[in-house]
Amino acid sequence: MSDLEFFLILLPPILALFFIFNVFKTKQNTLNLPPGNMGWPFIGETIGYLKPYSATTIGEFMEQHISRFGKIYKSHLFGEPTIVSADAGLNKFILQNEGRLFECSYPRSIGGILGKWSMLVLVGDMHRDMRIISLNFLSNARLKTHLLPEVEKQTLLVLSSWEDNSAFCAQDEAKKFTFNLMAKHIMSLDPGKQETEELKKEYITFMKGVVSPPLNLPGTPYRKALKSRSTILKFIEEKMEERMEKMGEKTENLEDDDLLGWALKHSNLSKEQILDLVLSLLFAGHETSSVSIALAIYFLQDSPNVVQQLTEEHMEIVKAKKQAGETELNWDDYKKMEFTQCVINETLRFGNVVRFLHRKAIKDVHYKGYDIPNGWKVLPVVSAVHLDPSHFDQPYHFDPWRWQNIRGSSSSCSSSWLATSTMSNNTFMPFGGGPRLCAGSELAKLEMAVFIHHLVLNFSWKLADTDQALAFPFVDFPKGLPIRVHRHTFII
Ligand code: HEM
Repeated sequence: MSDLEFFLILLPPILALFFIFNVFKTKQNTLNLPPGNMGWPFIGETIGYLKPYSATTIGEFMEQHISRFGKIYKSHLFGEPTIVSADAGLNKFILQNEGRLFECSYPRSIGGILGKWSMLVLVGDMHRDMRIISLNFLSNARLKTHLLPEVEKQTLLVLSSWEDNSAFCAQDEAKKFTFNLMAKHIMSLDPGKQETEELKKEYITFMKGVVSPPLNLPGTPYRKALKSRSTILKFIEEKMEERMEKMGEKTENLEDDDLLGWALKHSNLSKEQILDLVLSLLFAGHETSSVSIALAIYFLQDSPNVVQQLTEEHMEIVKAKKQAGETELNWDDYKKMEFTQCVINETLRFGNVVRFLHRKAIKDVHYKGYDIPNGWKVLPVVSAVHLDPSHFDQPYHFDPWRWQNIRGSSSSCSSSWLATSTMSNNTFMPFGGGPRLCAGSELAKLEMAVFIHHLVLNFSWKLADTDQALAFPFVDFPKGLPIRVHRHTFII
């Protein structure tokens, strides 16, 4: 083939590419995109965005970008052109327009590891069906009757193993508590039993992969996690088959006290769908709550006046129970934990367990004069709003009392506490919002309250070694939050 012939063959595709690029460029030039920096080809600014930083700050990347470009800026993150929002109004707008203008869009690697039927990945009708199952299972009625007693039982199991003047990693203890609770609640697994411990071990490997770069190469945490995923799914499948066999394949005879039984009996989901649902609920319900409890332990060891007021509140509850001849906590006791709810709110605001959410625009969107093009990734950064001085006075100060006096609410913590689940206050969104608001938010708050109740009544504690919460961006204590505890002698 002559050079001329070769050139003539290549010419049409080159011209076509040139044309497409120009159309794209012209379209972009006519749009009013927010200011920002698209960074390096392919990787954009992802490395800077993901650089670890103190979890009680917004990190250097966000700080610099907000001061340079404002609270809404463009960037190139996770391989895609992206609009980043630290703006409370836009965050609310994004979350409330789920399915209309925006759609949940987690990186593909998350789907690979949590499964294609995981709630974090699903959109549309299938997401709605899975959500209904989760909400039914985590309903207030079940919280009162099934979960509260179980939460208290699992709390006491963990706390009773803490010896006076002993030192250990509080983060591991919090994980033990939330894992045992979820394993019991989802599949009726008992803590301490060999199968539960084996599942826990697999789960730790699995989690390391969820939060590591998605490199499916021999020896990488991601590859190991994919292997653990298969082992965990096999385990759940065996449990599922055992149930069906026991009940002679008749779903109406199944017990529905745990999620597995409930999903088998009340849903039309396929086996594969139930497996992913169970796995993703184990993930969603375990990691976030344990980090929140570890954060509360961390903030409280540095806030003696908060612990003092908490102790008074919980002593009052115990005194009243003793007079009534009761021992176990009930729903009325829980509702009396008003200052505790302020501490929970403040822990979630200051610690920011979930810092940002992954969305994409599914239509061209116009917001406050800016264009957000169809197909672009959109990141509502809820932590940036929680730490914004224009919304929270002295945001870098752990101050549970701020929740007693928030705008538009009465002076009681319990009314502001409701704001976490209703989005009535769009500046506080630890559980996200809109049609994908966390299905387990009420359970998470119950777990934290009951744990704090028994913790302050029975122990005082200090850091046994320096440690701090870091955002990777998932929140973690690098040393596991080492604490030394002293058991009180005057209480239960
Ligand atoms: C303090 C602890 C927790 C925090 C901070 C938290 C936070 C969140 C956030 C921000 C979302 C929204 C994700 C998105 O919109 O992309 C979410 C979703 C979800 N969470 Fe939680 N969560 C917590 C505890 C729990 C617990 C205990 C469960 C119970 C199993 C749970 C189950 C779920 C589920 C099923 C979803 C998906 C909801 C949907 O897509 O409709 N979470 N969570």
